[in-house]
Amino acid sequence: MKKILITGGAGFIGSHVVRLFVNKYPDVKIVNLDKLTYAGNLENLRDIENAPNYTFIKGDITDAEFINNLFKEEKPDGVIHLAAESHVDRSITNPLEFVTTNVIGTVNLLNAAKHAWGCNKDKELPADKRFYHVSTDEVYGSLGDEGFFLETTPYDPQSPYSASKASSDHFVRAYHNTYNMSVVITNCSNNYGANQFPEKLIPLFIHNIKTNKPLPVYGDGKYTRDWLWVVDHARAIDVVFHTGKLGETYNIGGFNEWQNINLIKLLIKIADKKLGRAEGESEKLITYVKDRPGHDKRYAIDASKIKNELGWTPSVTFEEGLDKTIEWYLSNDEWLNSVTSGDYQSYYAKQYGK
Ligand code: NAD
Ligand code: DAU
Repeated sequence: MKKILITGGAGFIGSHVVRLFVNKYPDVKIVNLDKLTYAGNLENLRDIENAPNYTFIKGDITDAEFINNLFKEEKPDGVIHLAAESHVDRSITNPLEFVTTNVIGTVNLLNAAKHAWGCNKDKELPADKRFYHVSTDEVYGSLGDEGFFLETTPYDPQSPYSASKASSDHFVRAYHNTYNMSVVITNCSNNYGANQFPEKLIPLFIHNIKTNKPLPVYGDGKYTRDWLWVVDHARAIDVVFHTGKLGETYNIGGFNEWQNINLIKLLIKIADKKLGRAEGESEKLITYVKDRPGHDKRYAIDASKIKNELGWTPSVTFEEGLDKTIEWYLSNDEWLNSVTSGDYQSYYAKQYGK
């Protein structure tokens, strides 16, 4: 492929995908399209912003006319679609914004790609084109104490966020079935790593440990998530984009389940050591707060398909990934200060009160 359009490339996962593709494929032009919402930050890409194969375009995927013109001008052969509203708590406060960005935005991109690539059921699948939709394991709903999400697990989204992502997944499959569009979808578990906006559990808690603020644990803290280092997610996206079978779905996960409270105690242990505090000193910051409505009990991915068919596995252990991540947040004050000023303060007060 000569040109790949990556949407949401200034966000957390998107910036790691852009960096990987810009550095690994110098002959491929990478166009990063991002609206730069509160979650998008060009600081995440300072190291590659002057690379000759990289272009940034500020724009909104919900603007159909803009997206159609972009496809006419840029003529991408591939799309890796990450742009989305991504935080469950925000979706509970403002579901419509999630429908607009995650559903309508995705359909706008599908329409523009379908038109530009001439996708049509009467024609062969255009194998030199590819629309990659990045989705989440949350579309499968919530697990009990046992079992795993497989690619065949029925969709059962529980939050406005996961409902909007499930809907967008259905549209992507519908464009494959109806218009012979070359699509591939991945559903990934919880990511952690550098540059994640500090509204999500891990960066929020590292930031609060560092600044001695309460650590707001929802409910009993016994909810379980399956954590994957963001760089390994970006590696998986590279593998699926280049070698995944068109029309297929692949689950991506870290083989790494943690109950929130155990993960929080581990974060405290590592951070306290790095901050020169006594072991466990920051456990006093743990504060049990009102639960998230409709809180999914457990997510766990069976990632055997991507492992067995495409040969992908995570490159680091959780201990290594978490250590690098905590180190990054503790030594990047400037980044943290810039994203936690302004609107973040009012979001925080609304979400967590005083
Ligand atoms: P993020 O919130 O950090 O970044 C989203 C990016 O999309 C931001 O740069 C934002 O500016 C951009 N964006 C939002 N609305 C836009 C619009 N209308 N037009 C153009 N750009 C827009 O999200 P993330 O955590 O990096 O997630 C990226 C994708 O991966 C999402 O689709 C999400 O559903 C999916 N995902 C995330 C995780 C996770 O753990 N974070 C796990 C699995 C899947
Ligand atoms: O599973 C993939 C999904 O993981 C992605 O699709 C989402 O974009 C991403 O936000 C993430 O969703 P979660 O809701 O699992 O992530 P979050 O970091 O918000 O919460 C992780 C767990 O921690 C969850 O059980 C809720 C809990 N939590 C979270 C916050 C922000 C708390 O106990 N306190 C908090 O303040």
